[in-house]
Amino acid sequence: MSELIYETIVTSLNADGSAHAAPFGVRELDGRVLIAPFRPSTSLDNLLREQTAVVNLTDDVRIFAGSLTGRRDWPVFPAEKIRGHVLDGALAHRELRLIEVIDDDLRPQLLFEVVHEVNHRPFRGFNRAQAAVIEAAVLVSRLHMLPPEKTDAELRYLAIAMDKTAGECEWQAWGWLMEHIENFRAEQSGENQA
Ligand SMILES: Cc1cc2nc3c(=O)[nH]c(=O)nc-3n(C[C@H](O)[C@H](O)[C@H](O)COP(=O)(O)O)c2cc1C
Repeated sequence: MSELIYETIVTSLNADGSAHAAPFGVRELDGRVLIAPFRPSTSLDNLLREQTAVVNLTDDVRIFAGSLTGRRDWPVFPAEKIRGHVLDGALAHRELRLIEVIDDDLRPQLLFEVVHEVNHRPFRGFNRAQAAVIEAAVLVSRLHMLPPEKTDAELRYLAIAMDKTAGECEWQAWGWLMEHIENFRAEQSGENQA
């Protein structure tokens, strides 16, 4: 059985002190948190340089879709116990310090200890459209690897949950992802014609 993976937004510190937000699936191992970024990755560079991270748990799926479509400027406030930033949109966050790196050319594993943990707002329950946006965001992050028919078939299925249960934020996030897919495909067909 594989360990549970939680889909989160990791905020890391850019060299200029600003926040960098990106979606990462994180795992928990004996109370420690494992983040595994594929190279190349701005988050990886930041995490290795600064040795700190904030894991944000949020139901604002615009942050997942936005971070993948060039909208990374989300409101933040300072972390309490480490140098770092917490998303305003976090229901809860964990402040982490790097304790071990298992290096790898493709996907290093970064193990963190939890320094501090805060709950900001209650979790209100699962929403299928939010899950659909996260699945669509995963598809977007793999567009270059997936056959277009597979992406389209999965999007058609995810659209059912969107139609039934999405609110304004979910539709906005979905729209950004669909626009990104269209632009990606337009660019690709342009390249094929050139
Ligand atoms: C739900 C979700 C989970 C993701 N988990 C990971 C992950 O564990 N590792 C990874 O390298 N990329 C993951 N990605 C893709 C990254 O978020 C994406 O490549 C992003 O652009 C990385 O930005 P960076 O330059 O800060 O690394 C995930 C994307 C989504 C939507």
